[in-house]
Amino acid sequence: MITRGTFITRISGGIIGLSLPDYAWPVNHFAGNNLPVVISTWRHGVAANETAWKILSDNGYALDAVEAGVRVSEADPGVNSVGYGGIPDATGKVTLDANIMDEKGRAGSVSYLQHIKHPISVARLVMEKTPHVMLSGRGALKFAMENGFNKEKLLTNAARQRWKRWKTEEKVYKPEINSENQEGDHDTISMLAVDSESRICGACTTSGLAFKMHGRVGDSPIIGAGLFVDGEIGAAAATGTGELVMKTLGSFLVVENMRNGMTPFQACEAAIIRITKKIPDFSEYQVGFIALSKSGEYGAASISPGFEYAVATAEFTGLKEADSWMKAQ
Ligand code: GLY
Repeated sequence: MITRGTFITRISGGIIGLSLPDYAWPVNHFAGNNLPVVISTWRHGVAANETAWKILSDNGYALDAVEAGVRVSEADPGVNSVGYGGIPDATGKVTLDANIMDEKGRAGSVSYLQHIKHPISVARLVMEKTPHVMLSGRGALKFAMENGFNKEKLLTNAARQRWKRWKTEEKVYKPEINSENQEGDHDTISMLAVDSESRICGACTTSGLAFKMHGRVGDSPIIGAGLFVDGEIGAAAATGTGELVMKTLGSFLVVENMRNGMTPFQACEAAIIRITKKIPDFSEYQVGFIALSKSGEYGAASISPGFEYAVATAEFTGLKEADSWMKAQ
């Protein structure tokens, strides 16, 4: 018979019924002693976290924090993988995907949305004002405009120049696995936050893969792929090549791993290992996961080195590099 005592002992030595990785990655686990906590993907997450932190440190709601946080990247023309300034698809159109979830498991998302600078706020309205979870394309645009959003030109001159260069020189999409590449072709911002009342929420928003096929939608608006929140357990989100995340329902898997006793880092690590086992050409792509538990523990893992994530807590503000599967080989 498993008593509470033996269960806890066995959890600390290895988790019952779970296949933990059979080799050791460096331990990259950050205990959460104090709430609130906010984490987000990539270097542009630092500025986004700063805005989110202002809300969280003022005892604000995690949902408001993640929405306001990722709006910073959406509005920044220097971030060429999100919102305004995003790299267009193969036909020169900027098409956006976004997703938001709250601590009650409510969700809203938009996909293939054009002309709207803040898709995350449209996703929140889908969650709060409609009986649905996802609106797409023209329907999403119509809904946004009916709710006071204005059509804007999202293709900047810099993004247009890159597209023109791509059209004449490259013509095919080449996945970018070196995430240190400053051109950053798939740097979705995903943000997870738990507030001082232990309410955990998440958001992600992206213009998707640079020069993607017209009509392509990635993992970011798909609940359980680009983002998943379970208010009793924690939250997870993804960045990188969405097709790999969609095929493995990565963020849902990370949260389920945490439910079964893994730390956020172990949960991300196991989801990356799942990709390496299920997707034969995984090494040609980059995927990164971030995870946050309801108690404020966090962690991250990626396929290739170079995936940085931004953290803001009362004790630490800045960037950390996730452990990667490649580096551990
Ligand atoms: N992760 C973003 C995308 O693949 O569209």
